[in-house]
Amino acid sequence: MADNEGQAPAPPQPEGEQECMCTQDKVLQFLNKMADESGIKDLTDPALAEFLTDSDALKGIRDLFHYPKAGTLPDVDTTLVDPEADSIYLCGNSLGLMPKVTAEVMKEHLDKWAKMGVFGHMTGEVPWAHSDEHCLEGVGRLVGAKKEEVSVCNSLTVNIHVLLTAFYKPTETRHKILLESKAFPSDHYAIESQIRLKGRTVEESMCCLEPREGEETLRTEDIIDYIEKNGDEIAIVFFSGIQYYTGQLFDIKAITEAGHRKGCLVGWDLAHAFANVPLHLHWWDVDFAAWCSYKYGCTGAGSIAGLFVHERFLHDKRERMLGWWSHKMSSRFVMDNVLDLDEGASGYRISNPPIHCVAAMLGSLKIFDQVSLENLRSRSCYLTGYLEYLVKTLFGEDSDKRTTKLSISIITPEDFHQRGCQLSLKFSSPIDVIYPELVKRGVAVDKRYPNVIRVAPVHLYNNYVDVRRFISVLQEVAHIVEDHA
Ligand SMILES: Cc1ncc(COP(=O)(O)O)c(C=O)c1O
Repeated sequence: MADNEGQAPAPPQPEGEQECMCTQDKVLQFLNKMADESGIKDLTDPALAEFLTDSDALKGIRDLFHYPKAGTLPDVDTTLVDPEADSIYLCGNSLGLMPKVTAEVMKEHLDKWAKMGVFGHMTGEVPWAHSDEHCLEGVGRLVGAKKEEVSVCNSLTVNIHVLLTAFYKPTETRHKILLESKAFPSDHYAIESQIRLKGRTVEESMCCLEPREGEETLRTEDIIDYIEKNGDEIAIVFFSGIQYYTGQLFDIKAITEAGHRKGCLVGWDLAHAFANVPLHLHWWDVDFAAWCSYKYGCTGAGSIAGLFVHERFLHDKRERMLGWWSHKMSSRFVMDNVLDLDEGASGYRISNPPIHCVAAMLGSLKIFDQVSLENLRSRSCYLTGYLEYLVKTLFGEDSDKRTTKLSISIITPEDFHQRGCQLSLKFSSPIDVIYPELVKRGVAVDKRYPNVIRVAPVHLYNNYVDVRRFISVLQEVAHIVEDHA
């Protein structure tokens, strides 16, 4: 699509599809090469993890974060682990760690509030009334969008409602919303309520796509096939970019194209994809999307979210949820109650920006200014690939190196194009005994009872030593549990 005059330039066009050049073979070649260089022969040797970490060109990014010590996590047993040692924090898929600079940015705004009160709205380098706009370039870069296509506002589920209220216009013949059968509960409820709010029934209009019998993840070809066969009745295709439970990264471009071929609108929940994998929402022609920023975006629990509305809707004035921040800035404070709707994604804002949350976003963007998401993605593939290698080698059902009765399979797709930082590990036995033992030893991972643990080595602040230490603790705990069984 051509750039409109006077607007920001389009983001760079992606070179490949959902580009990721990594494979299991490449990870193995890399590990072997590093083993040769270091003289450490066994690829599972913890000493190799030290060598990999020392040789990592991006290892310094970790120092830009507050990385928790084991002793500051709750429920850690300090007779089992040195409280001064780093924790094993592999839970950035749930809550990202705090960039050190965030405290400084927040303090600046707290000081400003203390010193000038209401004048802070329009004064200073980042006037609060415009503070969200200061994030647009950085956030636009992370999602592959023009500034006009992005807003930083609200929280994720609220933005899903904001977008569906505007874009879900069911008709007698086209009224369905297609989503995955295991969508995150908030998305599921948001869609149910949107269907009912529009006067339709969930039974008739909500379509939840299941993986094939015996499979954990949806195949792209099955999603596309379903859309091709049923698309005439589908108003909206709404998927998550990365599935929260399985860690599967969907083919956003291909699914969006398939929806468009059948005249559907296609929207995305990018909670687990934002700042995790490079996105190209503009070029993939996505209609709308929403995300939270507290996972890989590292802005703090429940912090400010974002939304994307494609440039083709720039001048579109469809009915939506409105507030004073939907009104153009030039006349917003005239207060004559005659709406002059802002253009593009800005016109989907409702309230004035919460500066404490925006400050956290500004802090986090300072990190992403220093390192590109493409470089982080490459690092992420190797870190997660290393975790996969260790899990398969030391816990794989058929591995002759497994020393525990416990075995682990990985639900997340093997294909690097179909995953980000996270791997979802499925244990051969329930994790209700193992999980608290991990916590006692300073491990932060995300449990899903009965037998799944989600583990995310985050490209920003985790390293190979964290991954190897996690595996050692898992071995130790598995042995203890087995000895007492
Ligand atoms: C995929 C997905 N959707 C929606 C949500 C809900 O986010 P919020 O509570 O910020 O609205 C989450 C939260 O983790 C999520 O992972």
